[in-house]
Amino acid sequence: MKALVLCGGTGTRLRPITHTMAKQLVPIANKPVLFYGLEAIKEAGIDDVGIVVGETRKEIMEAVGDGSRWGLKVTYIHQEEPLGLAHAVLVSEDYLQDESFVMYLGDNLIKDGIKSLVDEFKKNKPNSEILLARVSDPRLFGVAQLENGRVVRLVEKPKEPPSDLALVGVYMFDCNVLKAVKAIKPSWRGELEITDAIQWLIDNGYKVDPHIIEGWWKDTGRLEDMLEANRIMLETIETSLKGRIDEKSKVLGKVVIEDGAEILDSTIRGPAIIGERTRVVNSFVGPFTSIYFDVEILNSEIEHSIVLERSVIKDIPGRIEDSLIGQNVVVERSHEKPAVYRFMLGDNSRVGIL
Ligand code: TTP
Repeated sequence: MKALVLCGGTGTRLRPITHTMAKQLVPIANKPVLFYGLEAIKEAGIDDVGIVVGETRKEIMEAVGDGSRWGLKVTYIHQEEPLGLAHAVLVSEDYLQDESFVMYLGDNLIKDGIKSLVDEFKKNKPNSEILLARVSDPRLFGVAQLENGRVVRLVEKPKEPPSDLALVGVYMFDCNVLKAVKAIKPSWRGELEITDAIQWLIDNGYKVDPHIIEGWWKDTGRLEDMLEANRIMLETIETSLKGRIDEKSKVLGKVVIEDGAEILDSTIRGPAIIGERTRVVNSFVGPFTSIYFDVEILNSEIEHSIVLERSVIKDIPGRIEDSLIGQNVVVERSHEKPAVYRFMLGDNSRVGIL
């Protein structure tokens, strides 16, 4: 059994962060979202992993390397253009050969992992098994219709959903999916859709089983989803205080302070995580906040946010909330005259001011 992890794509919904980095590497509770997926694959007993990469291949390859850190053997597969999830399978044909595999979208987070799905697929040996979860508004998702315990139809973002079972970004396939991805045509948006490939399997008499999960999962493709994923993962951390916390500071609730971090004259209210060598001075870091490494938070307040490496937040009078702050960003109060707002913002940035 192999795993195919999809880390191509364009990440339009997470711009401007994705102008400069792969969305699969945005840290959730200070760990790149992709790493949770790789851990879940290893935990399911799979060692042989193909990672489909596109424009951001250099950073993905630097971050994951040969996979030995997780006990995995990683092969990189280059997808020239993000022409769809089924296209990613098509370009992986040489890697996949005739083996069964789990396909995992690199920006998805499944809290309870995928072991139960992989075990059930191995036991029942259908041609495909798809991970589904009940959602309150199925019109926003790919939705599965079931009959007698089988998947009979998949519909993308249906106006009248046939069920409340949404497709989660994990799919099991045997080698027949290669016939499907070769047979289907691009959709109206010009992509080879995995839902069309699965529908092709159903229509051609192959067996597609559902696997419904009860646990939490998230496609972290949008800012709100990243923040929610961060919140859920921070709830699972255990307190570990490694950096320096001076006697004037207070650390409350579940908090991780990583090596070399400094907390001076500040309050950290968990769940929160402060990364390596980050300095928090005369500041408040509130619940559900992840601050990555080499960041400076000076005379400011922040909660329910993610701050990426090497950014500086300084002298901000109001509290920052619900924010994703990229790498090397400076947010500071300007003391110069005239007293004006000065911005240098990337394309598609979003700013809310008081
Ligand atoms: P999506 O989030 O569906 O697509 P995207 O990355 O292009 O993002 P957006 O819609 O915001 O523009 O992709 C799901 C995952 O699959 C993600 O990790 C990227 C990956 N992917 C590929 O590897 N190849 C592809 O051709 C596509 C479309 C996505």
